[in-house]
Amino acid sequence: MTNKIKVLAICGSTRQSSSNHNIIKAFTALSNDIFDVQLYEELTHLPHFNPDEDMAPDSAPAPVQDFRRQLEQADAVLISTPEYAIGVPGTLKNAIDWTVSSMHFSKKPVALITAGTSGHKAHQSLLGTLLIIESRISDDTQVVVSSVRTKVNDQGVITDEVTLAAIRKLIQSLAGLADGSVTACLPPPSLF
Ligand SMILES: Cc1cc2nc3c(=O)[nH]c(=O)nc-3n(C[C@H](O)[C@H](O)[C@H](O)COP(=O)(O)O)c2cc1C
Repeated sequence: MTNKIKVLAICGSTRQSSSNHNIIKAFTALSNDIFDVQLYEELTHLPHFNPDEDMAPDSAPAPVQDFRRQLEQADAVLISTPEYAIGVPGTLKNAIDWTVSSMHFSKKPVALITAGTSGHKAHQSLLGTLLIIESRISDDTQVVVSSVRTKVNDQGVITDEVTLAAIRKLIQSLAGLADGSVTACLPPPSLF
């Protein structure tokens, strides 16, 4: 394929030998023929979200504008994140909060992987957030990988067959959402 689909990958863990980073490595290798995956490297450089700094077009701090530019240039987004204290890691939620009023996730095909000891609570929370800001996510572009440290190694190889099959399916489904051949997405949740 000459024109690869551009995917911006965001890792919710800032840990040196992060399993989620290893999953992104695996995703990148497995999808090399269809996706051009760029890792977003500046998550910890984003300032704390403050709506006062985001009142006018282009008034947001420079790292935020750069993050938004990278989102704009991506055809799709991959998020792979751990769960902390049954919630979404603060650094990741902070980044997403900067995109709510700017609508940078609106209509964007998104693959969501939550990988941790369990991961289910953060996954549901993040799924709700991403859907309310109009991301396009299908049943097959989201997966929870529990006991992740037994399923992916430091070389970015997925050693668990079930997880490997789920990630392969997620890759095909994300490509389908991005090229328009798949249109069925999960509905937005109710606010109340
Ligand atoms: C402060 C802290 C809180 C955690 N809380 C949870 C949790 O609530 N649920 C869970 O599934 N895992 C939890 N974990 C375990 C992480 O999911 C696990 O360490 C995972 O490998 C972290 O992802 P990473 O390897 O990409 O850094 C927690 C880890 C830390 C350090």
